[in-house]
Amino acid sequence: MLIVSGASREENRRDLAHQLCRPRIPVRLIIQRSRLVLESLLWGEYWRPSRPFFEVDLRLVQRLNRLKRAWLNVLRHPADRLWQMHYCWRYFGLLHHTLRIARDEPRRPDPREAIRRIVGFEVFAVEAIGEPGFAGCTVTTRNPVFMLGQLAVDPTVPTPRHVPLLVPPGLNDAFYHYRQLLVSGTPAQSMLISPAVSLLERASSFTPIDRLARLVSERPDPYWKPRAKLLTRRVLAPLLHARREEHPNMTAAPLSILDLGAGTGHLVAKAWTYLGRMFSAALPPAAFHFVDSNPPAFGRSFGLTRDRAGVAHVEWTTGDYRTLVDDDRWLQKCGPLDWVFACRIFDNASNFLIENVDEGSGFWPTVECLPHRCLSPRCQPGGIRRLMVSPVRRQANGGTVLPQFSLRDYFAAIQVLQSSTLGDVCDDGAWPLPIRRFNPASLITPSGRSLLAQLMKVSRAIIIEDLDVEPEHLKQHRVQFGLAGTALVFCTRDGFSTEAKHYVLSSSTWAQHVRGERLW
Ligand SMILES: C[S@@+](CC[C@H](N)C(=O)[O-])C[C@H]1O[C@@H](n2cnc3c(N)ncnc32)[C@H](O)[C@@H]1O
Repeated sequence: MLIVSGASREENRRDLAHQLCRPRIPVRLIIQRSRLVLESLLWGEYWRPSRPFFEVDLRLVQRLNRLKRAWLNVLRHPADRLWQMHYCWRYFGLLHHTLRIARDEPRRPDPREAIRRIVGFEVFAVEAIGEPGFAGCTVTTRNPVFMLGQLAVDPTVPTPRHVPLLVPPGLNDAFYHYRQLLVSGTPAQSMLISPAVSLLERASSFTPIDRLARLVSERPDPYWKPRAKLLTRRVLAPLLHARREEHPNMTAAPLSILDLGAGTGHLVAKAWTYLGRMFSAALPPAAFHFVDSNPPAFGRSFGLTRDRAGVAHVEWTTGDYRTLVDDDRWLQKCGPLDWVFACRIFDNASNFLIENVDEGSGFWPTVECLPHRCLSPRCQPGGIRRLMVSPVRRQANGGTVLPQFSLRDYFAAIQVLQSSTLGDVCDDGAWPLPIRRFNPASLITPSGRSLLAQLMKVSRAIIIEDLDVEPEHLKQHRVQFGLAGTALVFCTRDGFSTEAKHYVLSSSTWAQHVRGERLW
């Protein structure tokens, strides 16, 4: 297990912030025990592989030189929105014209290295020495795709969703938006760290993410407090009422909780604290069992550093949640359980595919939203308002999308790298976007059993919080696996609204206490 002190996290942040100011292009971040080594290239070195394609066209060479000037200006003045706009205009201009020339002039040298370098510009792979897996990463004060998202909103709210997909220059795989880690303040500089889109690489890509988070951040998910509050009011308080009604004399018996994909464990532990504040009568002591594919870390994970009032027991198991739940002996050893939490764990297995968004989806993008057009200085001040870079999820093509039509050429370029054909790039009738969809395999154990049925053998209620699980997915799961004797509540129309959905699977007696729609 890797243990770092608070001081070394601060040093790591300072060191990274210092390196990230330099006029060099980061290409790889290597985690060596508790040290972070950022590999970077000079401008000319970085673009060298794309020379054969660029150098036969003076227009592209000029565009690249202009991008360099804009990049240097942004590095010198990272908070200046005018420079940011200019930088984005130059970057997306180079991208658009490279794709168009590659499509229209097929006799030129192979464009793929040039496209790879443009897409991978200011993106780097993160790896931990001696451990499998890569993550993708970028930095908010340097990445033009992130800046484009920030340009369109005022005041600016940073979110990893501004860079929904990224492809580091040395890798073939795409990585999807996950979380941000603050490196320095004024101007705020964060790293956006992304797991692999490929399901084969997904699990191992969480290893470098976890290592990096431990080395630079004391903070769990920045939204864990409001999420914990909502979980308490919406689900835990009603479930506690149900338990008290059923066993009025059981207030002293510990309430046993299993948290799958617990992260640092703070979400559920904080929800328990809020529950204590809501109920004037003393809560029973809690026994927590946290499961995560990454080991817990001192100073970050709940329950490692000191005894907590009202907590009878804290246990951490490192492993894959589906494999553990498949093991009947392990389940028997854990049980009986009162509550099992599966918060933001199933959506870790979701699928991402770049597809053209259907005409019937209700969006009406036009080429005027493309940054190489609307960010041109002569189109200001009105041009910038034509950007379409919303980070709010919408339904499309049977999944969800972020309707970021201004990133059309960026996603088309990723498609080119994935398929090796230029297809309909820069076709004004095609609007490729990454579609995110729930993966039903996240609910099935390796031996083909229902994860929910397995858990219900030893527990009273399963609480699900998820971005991608829809009621239909759970109903289909029930058709496939039965789940006899259970009731499912979709917590909706109860006065709260969030992007993540909550569900409670329990007995029908307990389900009556939870407000929402009964799915069965
Ligand atoms: C988005 S975080 C959710 C953390 C916490 N449950 C919450 O809602 O704040 C997902 C966590 O799942 C863990 N994870 C991903 N795949 C896993 C797997 N197959 N088995 C166990 N944990 C996994 C990751 O390491 C990460 O800590």
